[in-house]
Amino acid sequence: MPDLHPQRILVTGGAGFIGSNLVYFLIDELGAEVANIDKLTYAGNLASLERVMQNPRHQFHRVDICDRPALRAVFEAVRPEAVLHLAAESHVDRSIESPGDFIQTNVVGTFCLLEETRHYWASLPAAEKETFRFLGVSTDEVYGSLGPTGKFTEQTPYDPSSPYSASKAGADHLLRAYHRTYGLPTLVTNCSNNYGPYQFPEKLIPLMILNALAGKPLPVYGKGENVRDWLYVGDHVRALWTVLTRGAVGETYNIGGNEERKNLEVVTTICHELETLRPRGAGSYDALITFVKDRPGHDFRYAIDAGKLERELEWKPKRSFEAGIRETVSWYLQNDEWVRSTTNSECRSWTESHYSNRAPLAPRLE
Ligand code: NAD
Ligand code: TYD
Repeated sequence: MPDLHPQRILVTGGAGFIGSNLVYFLIDELGAEVANIDKLTYAGNLASLERVMQNPRHQFHRVDICDRPALRAVFEAVRPEAVLHLAAESHVDRSIESPGDFIQTNVVGTFCLLEETRHYWASLPAAEKETFRFLGVSTDEVYGSLGPTGKFTEQTPYDPSSPYSASKAGADHLLRAYHRTYGLPTLVTNCSNNYGPYQFPEKLIPLMILNALAGKPLPVYGKGENVRDWLYVGDHVRALWTVLTRGAVGETYNIGGNEERKNLEVVTTICHELETLRPRGAGSYDALITFVKDRPGHDFRYAIDAGKLERELEWKPKRSFEAGIRETVSWYLQNDEWVRSTTNSECRSWTESHYSNRAPLAPRLE
């Protein structure tokens, strides 16, 4: 099948971190028309979409993906050629404290979206049915935890550890089942940890940048030896477009940055970037590092083998971790107003109470 060129695209979760980066990519780089469905939970922020809120190529719909009548109305009004599904509850620590929202949005919400997509797809003329695509954005966390060696491939069995990853695994299974059972043209991507502009400051990298700037402790779980494979969000959204337009339906593609780092290394890299860009004066930023009680069920290591995507669809990450972190730290330094738009919300109070309950394990050794 030749490459597809969908122009009317329905994005879910487009007011979140990856979603807003994706919306900008679709509009700025491809000139696409985007209908953006988002419930605006604590993690959704219209300030992340400021540049396109008045753009006629972008329509925002405040809709919960569990609301089937509202989804049906959007499908009828927009008549999309493709769906990129990102809406989710996405933070592991929150899923440990209150898993119910994760099951509701990630499993039940994905089911509702698939049902409404199937209803709409069944009504399309044959040629449009053939080229329609539904891409579900998932995580490498569905594969569980790695030891010191090896990488996740698309053949790695699912073995999720947290309520978050278990709910994403459920969503992935539904997408594949809808392809096998109903022929709905679904694809699944499983990516590693993303970072970059517009990420909510509850995830490791933005939390560390903003805490450091505020002179607050930098809470590293356990000994900081857990490893993540970091993917710059701009590389990720390019990969999503590649899979959507060139991937084989029913297939899964892993997306990774090939940039493994121990958490402690990530935090010290951020501290060193900050020393260069905004010197602290009162001692170095890494004096703020505080080792805290570990996350229950904390997966030791994630690492993605993205060979299938590279070989079959010719995608490669472009941004090195060092360049991506430098850009990300600068972005947070230059976007005070966006940072304030997140710090006023319910999220900040959750983050603060979460961390105030985590007593430091031991003072940092200088
Ligand atoms: P995010 O938390 O920043 O954004 C999620 C968005 O979904 C928010 O705008 C929120 O308002 C919206 N949302 C939540 N529940 C909703 C509902 N019921 N109906 C409609 N909208 C709803 O998340 P993110 O980091 O941008 O992640 C996007 C997707 O990528 C998620 O599916 C996540 O599981 C996946 N993913 C993220 C990462 C990562 O490192 N951030 C890694 C792998 C996979
Ligand atoms: P996170 O950004 O929550 O992503 P995920 O759990 O989905 O990988 O965390 C990344 C890593 O950083 C993970 O190993 C947990 C660790 N971590 C900390 O050490 N301190 C923190 O304050 C946070 C939020 C995460």
